Amino acid sequence: MTTIRILIFLLLISGITYGLTTIADVDRMKHDLSKFLSISRFNETEKSVARAAIKRALEAVGLNSMTHTFIHEESNEIGANVIAVQKGPYFGTGNDKMMILSANYDTLEGNQGVDDNGSGVAAVLEAARVLSTLDTLYSRQNTIVYVFFDMKHKALAGSHAFVEDVLLPLMERTNTEVIGTVIADGLLHFDPFPASQAMPQEFESFFPEAAQLLHEHSHMGDFIQISSRSDVDEELVKKLHPFLYSDHSSFFFHSKQKTVQIPTIYLTDTLNLRGVRQYCVQCDGLYMMTEQNMKFLALMTDSLIRLLIEMSGSSASNVVDDLYTFMFNIDVE
Ligand SMILES: *[C@@H]1O[C@H](CO)[C@@H](O)[C@H](O)[C@H]1NC(C)=O
Ligand SMILES: *[C@@H]1O[C@H](CO)[C@@H](O)[C@H](O)[C@H]1NC(C)=O
Repeated sequence: MTTIRILIFLLLISGITYGLTTIADVDRMKHDLSKFLSISRFNETEKSVARAAIKRALEAVGLNSMTHTFIHEESNEIGANVIAVQKGPYFGTGNDKMMILSANYDTLEGNQGVDDNGSGVAAVLEAARVLSTLDTLYSRQNTIVYVFFDMKHKALAGSHAFVEDVLLPLMERTNTEVIGTVIADGLLHFDPFPASQAMPQEFESFFPEAAQLLHEHSHMGDFIQISSRSDVDEELVKKLHPFLYSDHSSFFFHSKQKTVQIPTIYLTDTLNLRGVRQYCVQCDGLYMMTEQNMKFLALMTDSLIRLLIEMSGSSASNVVDDLYTFMFNIDVE
């Protein structure tokens, strides 16, 4: 049996509208988004600016990064992923249980790409900063890898090259298990108005439960969608573009898929199926950075941070609830 599940993850609206404290630092994310994640990242010049900024942000918290270059065979273009490894004590051995957090940093031509995918990159960077800071105070068992993919629009070339050239060989050589991969897509767009959320026609027949929930929720665009698979189904994936055609496919479907499973989930605000972006492709600019949207992004980033703390076997998991009050106590109200 092959199934892919879509879950709709509702965030509390009251939490968005009123005061809210998050572990994720909203001001740092605003800074990243307005500095280098709101300018087109399409040609090589533009992309190298973004890569340099990502590398600097990682370096600032002591994370060295490397550039993984690959050739996209059809176009003969060179692409570059940025990879940072936050090693655990068992790195490179069969006792490591690796977590991977990733986002796509390139954009379509001329797009500012604040939501798509500036926000995913901002979330991964912020999670990296928090997890690195925690390392100065708490112990951690497992390695965390942060990856920023290139060339989403060339048949997922970046994530595909990462899985085939880097990840699978590493897993094979070291016997390391990957216990989870998260692909962060746009995570910024929040629209709590009824009927602001569209869904493709086939959606309802494939995902009746999610469709029903959406219906009961008056089709408001105030949730994050999680895609995952209980088993492999290529047909379903092909059919459900744009819902399922994304970088998680590179982790679902790869050359060793018969023997190696890489648990992977994909998170998205559904991009241009929501709110104003349905009608206005050029609207993905600085204007997206409303207080409400930033809080939405910060909440999602917190979920990612908590997931990483838990899955990486950090001793901070015992005190995670206190982190809100004493570590990065910021209030964006
Ligand atoms: C890349 O894009 C920038 C800004 O849009 C433009 O000024 C530059 O000429 C482009 N570079 C190449 C090599 O196409
Ligand atoms: C952003 O990344 C997601 C996930 O990889 C992808 O679905 C989306 O198309 C990307 N957007 C751009 C403009 O690359």
